[in-house]
Amino acid sequence: MAHAVCIPYPAQGHVNPMMKLAKLLHHKGFHVTFVNTEFNHRRLLKSKGPDSLDDLPDFRFETIPDGLPPSDDDATQDIPSLSDSIRKTCLVSFRSLMAKLNDTHVSSNVVPPVSCIVSDLGMSFAINAAEELGIPVLLLWTASACGFLGYAHSRQLVERGDLAAVLKDDNYRTNGYMDTTIDWIPGLKKIRIKDLPSFLFTLDPNDSMLNFILEMIEKASKASAIVVNTFDALEQEALDVLSSMFPPIYSIGPLHLLLNQVPQKDLVSNIGSSLWKYEDDCLEWLNSKEPNSVIYVNFGSVADVTPPQMVEFAWGLANSKKAFLWVIRPDIVKDASLIVLLHEFVIETKNRGIILSWCPQEHVLSHPSIGGFLTHSGWNSMLESMCAGVPVLCWPFFAEQQINCRFACIEWGIGMEIDGNVKRDEVERIVRELMDGEKGKEIRKHAMEWKKMAEEATSSKGSSNLNLDKVVKEVLLQLN
Ligand code: UDX
Repeated sequence: MAHAVCIPYPAQGHVNPMMKLAKLLHHKGFHVTFVNTEFNHRRLLKSKGPDSLDDLPDFRFETIPDGLPPSDDDATQDIPSLSDSIRKTCLVSFRSLMAKLNDTHVSSNVVPPVSCIVSDLGMSFAINAAEELGIPVLLLWTASACGFLGYAHSRQLVERGDLAAVLKDDNYRTNGYMDTTIDWIPGLKKIRIKDLPSFLFTLDPNDSMLNFILEMIEKASKASAIVVNTFDALEQEALDVLSSMFPPIYSIGPLHLLLNQVPQKDLVSNIGSSLWKYEDDCLEWLNSKEPNSVIYVNFGSVADVTPPQMVEFAWGLANSKKAFLWVIRPDIVKDASLIVLLHEFVIETKNRGIILSWCPQEHVLSHPSIGGFLTHSGWNSMLESMCAGVPVLCWPFFAEQQINCRFACIEWGIGMEIDGNVKRDEVERIVRELMDGEKGKEIRKHAMEWKKMAEEATSSKGSSNLNLDKVVKEVLLQLN
């Protein structure tokens, strides 16, 4: 029996798609070992609700330390510190885990020997482990292909000095430079400086996040193949450019739709991957609303929003007079005064909206009452929205979210952008335009078209489905 060790980068937006891929591999007959960090596994156990994290005979969990000081916190970890620690410490423990799994095979014969590694691009130490064992390593890029293109050109962006020239001017955020377009990156023709991956905006050559990215991209060339959670019809050009730069690239998304194709009874379906506990009574509340009447607001699992920004969003929403479902993650504002700040907003909008701390997002987006999604443009959120035919209002926060936003608004026609320096009047205007205006109608129509194309890509003869079969056969099982 083939044995895949799946290791996600330890953040929600990465654990979710890796879990989906792991379930698909299990369905295709693989013994799966899913490797969490100790910190995340504790959180997953705490938040699982009716979901299970119990070991099944052929779908097991293992943990490794992330190298950071122990913490009982339930908040999102600091991404630069986490990335730096992973890069410097995880290979040793991962290597020991591989040895343990292979020893268990020898001593008990219950666990098959590890035959392949499926790793997030951000866990590039796994490539070393695979090389040492002489087994294939498949990398999963959990974000968009256009975002990948931005990262793939990191070294050139640093060496050409495109960003350094901007950053040297203290007024770079206000002097208009950020809006100038960069036209030399193949596949990213209409990209502005401000759309480039946020981690590249540093003048410090020793910046830990910059070096994490540079190493990640360099090491990706050593993978057996790379799979991307996107589909051909959506990102053909970006995928073609990536194919000319890296080992074989396959689009296998949207993974959540691919998983939905498999009958529930054939899946390890109730294994969860949410780091927060769902408040799912919101689905009942949505049942009481008219179709397309509710705006859903959620900034994902990492974004920090400042109290003044939250207040602008709150009053923009209140003044739009639209019904809303707003998820405010407990750690989204590192300031306990938020509830006081939002007190008047809650009174003003009583009965028109609900505020939750975490929701079952895929279900929420598929609910007919949802008419639009105000999002930070994280890739899972963008794909989940598109696949539900829901248009987006984009307020990108960090990483490659700016590129996702740009493509959603300019290339795919499913979104409108909110300025980084958010103001309540703009939020009110754009929410009304989305829910009642002509532009709203147009982007809703495009979202419905992409929904159909995503369904086609994941149907039995669709490109993503065929690509996954090819990867399994040719890369993971090495049957040529
Ligand atoms: C981000 C993005 O993936 C990406 O842009 C970037 O590379 C770094 O990480 P995140 O900010 O969490 O992750 O956003 P997103 O990609 O949208 O992932 C969030 C996931 O959590 C989604 O699958 C979403 O369905 C889920 N979620 C979010 C919930 O289930 N409930 C919630 O209330 C909020």
